Parts: sequence; C-alpha cells; structure tokens
Amino acid sequence: MKKKSGVISNMSANTMDTCTNLIRNAKKIVVLTGAGISTESGIKDFRSKTGIYSLAPEYILSLDYFYQHPKEFYQFAIENLYHPEAVPNKGHEILAKWEQEGKVATIITQNIDGLHQRAGSKNVIEFHGTMKTATCLNCGKNYSTDEMLSRMETMEDFYICNNCIANNKLEQYIKPDVVLFGDTGTWFSMAGIQTILRYMQEADFVLVLGTSLLVAPFSTFPQYRRQGVPLIIINKGETPYDFGQDTYVIHESIGKTMEEINNQLHP
Ligand code: OAD
Ligand code: ZN
Repeated sequence: MKKKSGVISNMSANTMDTCTNLIRNAKKIVVLTGAGISTESGIKDFRSKTGIYSLAPEYILSLDYFYQHPKEFYQFAIENLYHPEAVPNKGHEILAKWEQEGKVATIITQNIDGLHQRAGSKNVIEFHGTMKTATCLNCGKNYSTDEMLSRMETMEDFYICNNCIANNKLEQYIKPDVVLFGDTGTWFSMAGIQTILRYMQEADFVLVLGTSLLVAPFSTFPQYRRQGVPLIIINKGETPYDFGQDTYVIHESIGKTMEEINNQLHP
C-alpha cells in the first residue's frame, strides 16, 4: 500500500500548500476538534504535560466517581472544566468564518466550553455535551451551572434535586450535562451516530484540530470518511492517525497555522 502522509514538524511549505489548496476548493469540510483548540484561550487540555490529567487520574471524570464523591467531583469540575470567562481564539474565529464562506459543513467537538458557538459557528455538534448546564437524573429539571455554583455555596446536598422525590437518592443527583467515562450522551444514540456518520460520508475532507484522538467513539470518526478523502491533522502532539492513507499532519500551533492558511486564502 502506498502511503501519502506528510508528517512535518516545521510547517513544510509543501504540506501547508496542499492543505491550503484543499481548503480553498472545499465545500463540505467536517471539522473534528478537541481540547487543543481551546488552549490558546487559556483552557487546559487533558493529556499534555500540563493538562488536566496531570492533576488527577482519568477516573475523576467517570460516572462512578461522580456517584461516589459528588461533592469532590463538582469541586474538580467547576475548577477545571468551567470557564465562563474564556473567549474564542483565532482557531475558533477562522472556523466560524470558513463556515460563513460555505467551506465548513459542520464541527463535531469533544469540547464542553461552548467557544465554537461563541465565535459564531452555527452547525456544531457537542459530542461530549456542555458544561453550561446540569440535569436531574430523575425528573430532568435543568439547572444552569451558575445556579449549581450558588447551590454549592449555600446547600450541603446541593447535588440532590429538590424538584422531585425518588426512592433512591442517587437517582435524584443533578449531573453536569457532560459525557463522563462510563456514561452516554445525547449523541450516543442510533440516530445521533447515524447523523454523524452521514456527515463523515459527505465530507470533501476531514480536518482534525487539537485532539489526541484517543477517546472512543469520537476517535473512530475519521475512519468513516469515504475512501481517498483526505485527512488533515493540525495538532502539536501525535495521534494514532498520523501515518494513515491520504493524511497530512502539521505538528504546530492551531492558531498560527490556521491564520497562515487563512492569509493565503485571502491575500
Ligand atoms: P487531549 O488532551 O487528549 O489532546 C489535546 C491535543 O491537543 C494534544 O495532542 C496536544 O498536543 C494538542 N494541543 C494542545 N494545544 C495545542 C495548540 N495550541 N495547537 C495545536 N495542538 C495543541 O484532549 P482531547 O483529545 O480533546 O472527555 O481529549 C478527548 C477527551 O478526553 C475529552 O473530551 C475528555 C477527555 O477525557 C471526557 O471528559 C469524557
Ligand atoms: Zn429532579
């Protein structure tokens, strides 16, 4: 099998030109994003040296841990996953612009920070949910995270819903609307996955930004693009897809790379 991957560490002109030309002519880019697109907005990613998992093991973001230690879970989640003060950066902004220009069909993100939407992107799938809200697992009452914050300050059992009564208190827990390990989410359904696979099938090419592509099922999505459809990866770290067929890899900052590509598109 012939490999066409262009793995570079210093933005080789060739790979940049290829990527720029693909983007120039594209009408249906599917963008897959992860925590790395938000680090330039001051938000920690997960698996880099200074990432969230340097502070605690992955287990802290599991459904088991949430049920067993709801107070500690909330404390950690509010401190590390909730960033209402963060603003979109160049990467988010350029993606929103490319959507307006009719290039980007959809963004499928693992991020729970809402920064794609705040930058103006309209067609965004929040595959791992959002940190903006929380929901009672029994009655479905929705709470804003700001409301949860004030409950934390004033109530001992702030994580237990007082809008309903259940036989078992665990059923009445109010869980942030994020997908935890061992958990599912809105998009984890037959219809949800089918919608995503349809996007993957229709893509001119797939653009991966700022994800280590290590967490399934999200990490499997690039595999569902049609044969011969290019995969462009802009990510500082390595991913399991770096040496795949029709794959172009730029191990660089997302903001810097996207700005350079965008400047070439609009000289
Ligand atoms: P990771 O921390 O695993 O990967 C982020 C990637 O972005 C790393 O490979 C970094 O090298 C890269 N990166 C960071 N800053 C960058 C920058 N400015 N420019 C270019 N690359 C940069 O984060 P995710 O792949 O998003 O799920 O993690 C996937 C999931 O694991 C998360 O959604 C979260 C976590 O557990 C749940 O909590 C369920
Ligand atoms: Zn309730």
